[in-house]
Order: sequence, then structure tokens, then C-alpha cells
Amino acid sequence: MNNEFLQDVLVGFAKQQKSLSPKWLYDERGSELFEKITKTEDYYVTRTEESIMRTVLGELPGLLGPASAITEFGSGAGIKSQRLIEAIKPSVYVMVDVADEFLRASAKALSARFPDVEIHGVLGDFLGEVAMPSAFLNAPSRVGFFPGSTIGNFDKGGAEAFLAGARRDLGHGSRFLLGADLVKDEEVLIAAYDDRQHLTAEFTLNLLRRINRELEASINVETFRHLALWNNDERRIEIYAEAQAAQELVIADETFRFAKGERLHVENSHKFTRGSMTRIAARAGWDVEAYWTDPLEWFGVFLLKAQSSDEGTSTP
Ligand code: SAH
Ligand code: TRP
Repeated sequence: MNNEFLQDVLVGFAKQQKSLSPKWLYDERGSELFEKITKTEDYYVTRTEESIMRTVLGELPGLLGPASAITEFGSGAGIKSQRLIEAIKPSVYVMVDVADEFLRASAKALSARFPDVEIHGVLGDFLGEVAMPSAFLNAPSRVGFFPGSTIGNFDKGGAEAFLAGARRDLGHGSRFLLGADLVKDEEVLIAAYDDRQHLTAEFTLNLLRRINRELEASINVETFRHLALWNNDERRIEIYAEAQAAQELVIADETFRFAKGERLHVENSHKFTRGSMTRIAARAGWDVEAYWTDPLEWFGVFLLKAQSSDEGTSTP
């Protein structure tokens, strides 16, 4: 049994507001479902970012200069990785992800496709210590890549903490290419996180199915529903699994009670503005060197440049 998963579940389910880290959404089934979500009409995020990236990838070689070492956080299926490698031709490309099977498959496929690039798949939690390969650490210029607005999935303060950590790890003279979803009409946002094909609903409920599969649990998944809400004060979509009937459930011999309507929090997706992200980046030790958006300003791509060590809050 996966002990870290079990520990997180036991702690998260015992909280006043029951919650679980979103990283557990991405088992093999979850990763497949997420890939399908990115291709739906309702989930505008992926296609909008891709349309912006076509312009970005044309300009990036001029901005970054030759042979950089790139690390991507949460690389998933590696589709965006492939395009970035094609455009930049880095010497080293490191993919960090918690999704084991997906990571192995995508690192292998990219290695076959780009024999001249040193490709590493590093299994790990990008919120903790990640063992970076020495080829990356020793490279003369390092670039971070964080697409898909995964930056929005952190807790309050988490985005800044993550970027400050990346500034320290990537070091002097580094760059960071960041995709961030922007604040927009609530209806558009809700549709993206509650798609008409119910793939997002299945993605949320798969977390409960995963608990049943991997831990000693027998949650009646059909008694829960997926719920996506817009929290305007916090500028975020909140995703829950909501119990539609009062129940008790047992996980590894511990009993948990859900009242009718009680929710398990599974994910936040914060939305930003050009200004709000610029401020977060500045506090974390990064300047915005370039910014791109789509005509509707639904999504923003930021190229960040490390502030030199005597500016900002963090020093290397
Ligand atoms: N970059 C891809 C996938 C984004 S989905 C895209 O833009 O389409 C988020 C990815 O981050 C998933 O592959 C998931 O497995 C990974 N992930 C989520 N939380 C993580 C964590 N804490 N540490 C490492 N990887 C994580
Ligand atoms: N980074 C993605 C986002 O916030 C992750 C995501 C998309 C997601 N749809 C989801 C996470 C549904 C949980 C549930 O847009």
C-alpha cells in the first residue's frame, strides 16, 4: 500500500474542511482523464495557451540564446515539452512529475525523438526536494518551464513560495517560462471545470475510486458528486467532491463521517491578471521580461528573468 497516500488521506479526511492534495488526482486513470479534459471544447485553457505558444516559440530562441538547460514542472503527457524542445534545442531537458507511468512513457518517447538532447524524467513532488540531475545543475544557463496554469493550483501564498524556490534552485541569470490563466467571466470558468462531457466530474470522482483501489476503503463513489464553484474574493475555482447523502466510510480501519452536502476539497485553480502575476513574480525574485496573451486576454504567458541577487527578497 502507498503509505504517503494513506497518510495524506487519513490526515485530510480528519480535518474540519476535508481536503486532499491535488497531486493524488494523477494516477494513470487520472492522467488519462486530464488529457481528455484538455481536448474538450469547454476547457479553453490548453488550446488558448497553445495558440499563444505558437508566437512565443518563434521569439524564444532570440530571447534565450543558445543551448539552454530546461526543466519542466508537471510535464504530464509531454506534448508542450516536445514543441519547446523543437524550438529551443536545449542540451538538457528535465521533466518532473508525480505521474509515474506518464512520466516514463513521455521521457522515453522524447528521448527517441530527440537523440541529441539529454532527456531526464525525474519522479517527484515539485513542492518538495527534487533530485535534479547534475547535467542540469552544471549547465551554464537554466530555464524553468511551467505551463498549463499549474501555478494556479497552489494554496494561498503557494505560487509565490514556488517561484521563490525556483529562483533559488535555477540560480543566477536563469529564466522561467510560465503559463497562467487569467480572470474572466464566471460562466466561461465554470464550464471549463464542469465540462459537458463530464470528464472533469469523472476526474474528481476518480480520486475517490483511487482511494478504494489503492487503500483499504470502500467509498460508495456514486453517492458523491463533482462540484466546481467560483470564489470571487480569492479569484479561484474551487473543486469539491460533495456527499449527496450522510454516510460513514472506513479507510484502513478508520471511520470518517460525511454529513449530507459535506464537501471534500480536491483542487483550487487560481486566476490571475497580468498585474497580479507580475507582483507575485517580483516578490519571488523575478522580473517580467516578456508577456504574451491571446486576443480575448484569457491566458497569459510570462517570460521571467531572475533579478540579480541584490534585488528582491531571495538570494541564491
Ligand atoms: N504540463 C501539462 C500537464 C499539466 S497537468 C499541461 O500543461 O498540459 C499537471 C501535471 O502536474 C500533471 O501531470 C501532474 O501529474 C503534475 N503534478 C501535479 N502536482 C504535482 C506535484 N506536486 N509534483 C509534481 N508533479 C505534479
Ligand atoms: N492546471 C489545471 C487548471 O487549473 C488543472 C485542472 C484542470 C484541474 N481541470 C481540473 C484540476 C479539474 C482539478 C480538476 O486548469
